[in-house]
Amino acid sequence: MPAYSSGFRSLDAEHDDLALDVTGEIPSWLSGSLVRNGPGKFEVGGQRVEHWFDGLAMLHKFRFDAGSVSYSNRFLRTETYRRAVEEGEISSQFATSGGYLDQLKSFLGDPTDNANVNVARVGGEYVALTETLRRVRFDPESLAVQDHLDYADDLTVHHVTAHLQRDDRRGETVGYATQFGRTNRYHVYRVSDEQSAAGKIERVPVVSLDVDRPAYLHSFALTPRYAVLVEPPFVTNPMRFLLPGEGGFIDNFRWRPERGTRFLAVERETGDLVVERRVTPFFFFHTVNAFESEGDIVVDLVAYEDAEIVSNLFMGAVGEEVESVDERGERAPDSGPDLNAADGELTRFRIPVADDSESVRRRSVYTGTELPRVAPQARTKRYRYAYGQATAREGQTGLVKVTVETGEATEWWADDHYAGEPIFVPKPAEDVEGTEGADAPEDRGVVLAPALDAERGQSLLVVLDGERFEELARAEVPHHIPFGFHGEFFPEVER
Ligand code: CO
Repeated sequence: MPAYSSGFRSLDAEHDDLALDVTGEIPSWLSGSLVRNGPGKFEVGGQRVEHWFDGLAMLHKFRFDAGSVSYSNRFLRTETYRRAVEEGEISSQFATSGGYLDQLKSFLGDPTDNANVNVARVGGEYVALTETLRRVRFDPESLAVQDHLDYADDLTVHHVTAHLQRDDRRGETVGYATQFGRTNRYHVYRVSDEQSAAGKIERVPVVSLDVDRPAYLHSFALTPRYAVLVEPPFVTNPMRFLLPGEGGFIDNFRWRPERGTRFLAVERETGDLVVERRVTPFFFFHTVNAFESEGDIVVDLVAYEDAEIVSNLFMGAVGEEVESVDERGERAPDSGPDLNAADGELTRFRIPVADDSESVRRRSVYTGTELPRVAPQARTKRYRYAYGQATAREGQTGLVKVTVETGEATEWWADDHYAGEPIFVPKPAEDVEGTEGADAPEDRGVVLAPALDAERGQSLLVVLDGERFEELARAEVPHHIPFGFHGEFFPEVER
């Protein structure tokens, strides 16, 4: 058993606005709520889910007010949750199969609503997101499920990103989705704030691109002018979904390095495909940021040599020789994923837009990171700092602040601690002495990250100073929190 196995143990307790003990000092200007998503329960009907990505969703909220912090957590009480808890029924998901019939159902009309990957505000609604087309609306104060968010359009899609991107300047949210069928398509779409405010939350296609073998895409890149799909050669023949077989969604994908990884850049205004470039294959889950510079599109992402990382995150991966996805055999699912199996490489790609004869340039920035974030004001712009989980030490995960131009890095580690996704919260302009908001340094603020103290089997929230990247405070949660994925800071959620 790895030291961090409590991070993959189910959590039963739910709390409502529990005041947490704080060591150190939380800045008094910090106000609002960090809402995080992830699996809370890994067993259904006596069976354990097969992949980290498949546990039943639980929301966690850390609410900050005048130097204090309170904690709430609640299972996302969806249809999938109800069927799991009341009927012991396991749903077909990312890598867990409910059996052949379920697998078929799951992609042709009855997708799971176990939205355990991310949270976002779309068209004014707070939603929990996963990679199926079910979005779960929740009340950010009580964390109670409201209903599903259904878009007022008839776009047919089967796999979606849980990483939507906000563009405040244009007043829209941008996303993409994959349609499987006789023709497979990637759809890039926008959801306009203005229309949403008028009661019509609708995806308007920017472009729909035909693709022969759709890839597993987890996130994308956005600049003011372009939306960039990054397509690793981890692809499926959608006919596989119709064939009898075991396994979940991801088991239908194969690594085909000969295809290379493809950058597809679409002009957001016109929908024109302006870049289609293949480069040496790599796999990735997360883009960090993107922007335009001197006629190039610059895309920063966390790259892996291949898609083996997907196998490493199966529940039984620890301590085993990890085989290729094709040959994955039976595993004892109680040991948990192998968190130190692969080092993600923060990598910068410069993609020329106008000149096809110019090559795509690749530069390694920092090795050993995942779950990357940037300051909200830095998105889609030339920027200085990326924050991420640091993964390069065996037996723990830390946090890192990387100066992206130079690769210079400041890390935070604590013995036996396993830190998760760090979220940067800027200090509001009115609280920054002697600077106008626009001139405030990009790292003026705090970084919030969950961490598991594996020694004690208890979790905490770490508050780091954004500039010095040193611990300001920690708030103790009275139990462990299973390792989660993504969250968002909502300054307006004050209760
Ligand atoms: Co993600």
